[in-house]
Amino acid sequence: MFSSSERILVTGGAGFIGSAVVRALFRNTDARIINADKLTYAGDLASVAEASASDRYVFEHADVCDGKMLSRIFRTHQPTAVLHLAAESHVDRSINGAAEFIRTNVVGTQTLLDVARSYWSELDGDRKQGFRFHHVSTDEVYGSLDDSGFFTEESAYRPNSPYAASKASSDHLVHAWHRTYGLPAIITNCSNNYGPYQFPEKLIPLMICQALDGKSLPVYGSGRNVRDWLYVEDHASALITVLRRGRPGETYNIGGSAETANIDLVERLCSVLDRLHPDAEGPYRRLITFVPDRPGHDFRYAIDYAKIKRELGWHPRETLEGGIEKTVRWYLANRRWTDRIRSRNYDGRRLGLVASGAW
Ligand code: NAD
Ligand code: DAU
Repeated sequence: MFSSSERILVTGGAGFIGSAVVRALFRNTDARIINADKLTYAGDLASVAEASASDRYVFEHADVCDGKMLSRIFRTHQPTAVLHLAAESHVDRSINGAAEFIRTNVVGTQTLLDVARSYWSELDGDRKQGFRFHHVSTDEVYGSLDDSGFFTEESAYRPNSPYAASKASSDHLVHAWHRTYGLPAIITNCSNNYGPYQFPEKLIPLMICQALDGKSLPVYGSGRNVRDWLYVEDHASALITVLRRGRPGETYNIGGSAETANIDLVERLCSVLDRLHPDAEGPYRRLITFVPDRPGHDFRYAIDYAKIKRELGWHPRETLEGGIEKTVRWYLANRRWTDRIRSRNYDGRRLGLVASGAW
C-alpha cells in the first residue's frame, strides 16, 4: 500500500472515475494526493469532499494543455507517480464536435507527457526508478466485436468514434514516450464504468434521472448493442493495483465480466426502480422509447482481463446485480447532486446525432 512518502498526481480527479480513485487513495492508503482538474462541465468537487479538508490532499485548478501550469505543479508537489484520467469522455459529444477531444485527449496528453518526462529525467536513484506515468484509457480503442470474441492486450487498434480515435492517439503517444525516451509508462484499457457521481449523460445515470423525472428512456437503435459493465470502485482498485505493481511498458485490460445488451440493462434498472421507488403512474418500463441509432455505434465490447488477474491478482469484486442496486440507491439518495448538475450543465437532451447526408 502507498505510504505517506508517495505523492500521486491524479489528473481529472474531479470527474467520475478520477474522483473514485481520489476517494480510494484517501481511504485505503497514506499517500498524498494532488488533484489537477480543469473543472469542465464533467468535473465537480463535491465528489472529493471527504478528502478536501485533509492535509494529504491538494486541488490544483489546471488544464492539462497548459504546460507552464503543469511544470509548476510538478515542481511544487514533486509527484512520485502520475495517474492520468483527465479527458473528454462522452462519445455522443465527440460526434457533435471533436475539437475539444483532440485538444484535451491528444494535445493534453502530449503536454503532460513532455512535462512528466522533463521532470522524471532530472530525478535520480530510487526516485527515478520508482516514478510511474499511468495512462487511463478505454476498450473503445479496439473498435467493435461481433457476437463472439474478446479484446485482449494484443487486439489491433480500430477506433470508430472521434472519442475513441482521440484516446487511441493518446495511447500511441504514451507508448512512444516509453519506447523513445524510456519514460516508465503503463496503459490500462477499461470497459464501461458505472456507479456514484457519473455525469447523467451516460446510459445508466441518464436512464435513472429520466425515469425519476417521468421522462422517456431513449434506447438507441435496436437496444441489442452490448457493453461490459464494471463498478467504478473496482476500476479504482485496479488502477491502484497497476500503479503499485504493474510493469512499465505494459498494457493491462480491465473488465467486468458483465456483458449486457442495453435494452436488458435498461429493463433491469426499471425493475430496481419499481422496487425501490415505485411510480404511481405504473412500471418505469412504460417510458422506454427506441430512438434513432448513434452514428457509427459500436456493436459489442467485451474484455479479456486474464493478464491483470494472472500477473497482479486483480479481479472485479462487485456483481452487476449488486452494483446496479448500489448505484440506483445512490442516485435516489443524491437527487440534489443530479438536479444541480443537470440544471447547471445538461438538461438530458439527445446528443450525438448528425444531420442526414452529413457523412
Ligand atoms: P469524466 O468526463 O467524468 O471526467 C473527466 C474529468 O477530466 C473531469 O473532472 C474534467 O473536468 C476533467 N478534464 C477535462 N478536460 C480537462 C483538461 N483539459 N484539463 C484538466 N482536466 C480536464 O470522465 P470519466 O468517465 O471519469 O473518465 C476518466 C478517464 O477514464 C478518461 O480518460 C476516459 O477516457 C477513461 N475511461 C472511462 C470509462 C467510462 O466508462 N467512463 C471507461 C474506460 C476509460
Ligand atoms: O467502453 C468504455 C467507454 O464506455 C468509455 O471509454 C467512455 O468514456 C464511456 O462513456 C463509455 O462509452 P459508451 O459509448 O459505451 O457509453 P454510453 O453510456 O454513452 O452508452 C452506453 C451504451 O448505451 C451505448 O451502446 C449507447 C447506448 N445509449 C447511450 C445513451 C447515452 C443508449 O441507448 N441511449 C442513451 O441515451
